[in-house]
Amino acid sequence: MSASDIAKDNDSSAQTSPVDYWRQCLTTVDIEWLRSSINADETRMRARVDEIRKEAYDFSHYPCIRAYFFAKVDVVKNSIYKEIVEAGKKGDTIYLDFGCCMGTDARKLVADGYPPQNVFACDLYKELLDFGYRLYDDASTCQIHFLSSDAFSVPYPAPPSGPSTVEDLSEVTEISQLQGKVTHLYAGFFFHMFNEEKQCNLALRFGVLMKREPGTILYGRQIGSYEAGFVDALQMFAHSPESWKKMWKRAFMELESTEFAENRVIVEAEFAEVLPKELSLHGHPMPVLHWNVRIV
Ligand SMILES: C[S@@+](CC[C@H](N)C(=O)[O-])C[C@H]1O[C@@H](n2cnc3c(N)ncnc32)[C@H](O)[C@@H]1O
Repeated sequence: MSASDIAKDNDSSAQTSPVDYWRQCLTTVDIEWLRSSINADETRMRARVDEIRKEAYDFSHYPCIRAYFFAKVDVVKNSIYKEIVEAGKKGDTIYLDFGCCMGTDARKLVADGYPPQNVFACDLYKELLDFGYRLYDDASTCQIHFLSSDAFSVPYPAPPSGPSTVEDLSEVTEISQLQGKVTHLYAGFFFHMFNEEKQCNLALRFGVLMKREPGTILYGRQIGSYEAGFVDALQMFAHSPESWKKMWKRAFMELESTEFAENRVIVEAEFAEVLPKELSLHGHPMPVLHWNVRIV
């Protein structure tokens, strides 16, 4: 089942849940962000967010659009976020947000001090990136490198050419040009859209992009399950903290070696929040796994 199929299935409650319900998914932190980046006048800010939500939801029935997740700054909830922002401020790192939707988390990261010229944000759909420019009205000023790109187009196995030698990041037009160069990779509500095999495959492809140096970090969040496996009610494969850790260790064993995976890769994963049951089919609980994978 594809991501959009899951989204449509999960959409059954959209008919009955009024938009007012979903508006509550925006916290005071999100509202403060949206007022500072869209319009200080809350009524006008909300009108813009609602307008874009409606058009974007007509384009793509993603639950993250229905539930205003495209406007939330959830990335700040990951415990490692501040460390990443501070590392970015030194100016010699590269950040990549995969499955960025309208790019809200990437813009927040830049507002917090990560240099925009070092930030890439990718989504399968250029249309969602364009909605982002309209949401923030910053097409002519935003310096983040937005690329429409399929995560599965990252080559795996890695081409033998080795890490990319590209120096001028403004010349990067394809994500494969970042092979071996990315210091920080964020994947928010991303992995759970794919089956188990594809999730392993994604870990390998993302691994190809990452720098092999201490300080390199992948991090993110997705719907998890207290017991790893296919969750019928959600029609998705969901990892537990334990299975998630094993998946990344296996990926780096394959990418590098058993010794590298054992000694240089540290994986942390925990359930840090639970999504509102209204988001799921049959009111099934949706614990959210927060995780990070560090190279040391
Ligand atoms: C559930 S949304 C999550 C958006 C955002 N990261 C967040 O945390 O709210 C998943 C996003 O991944 C994008 N996407 C789906 N499949 C993709 C793929 N193969 N490559 C890149 N992006 C993809 C979708 O278009 C969508 O914007």
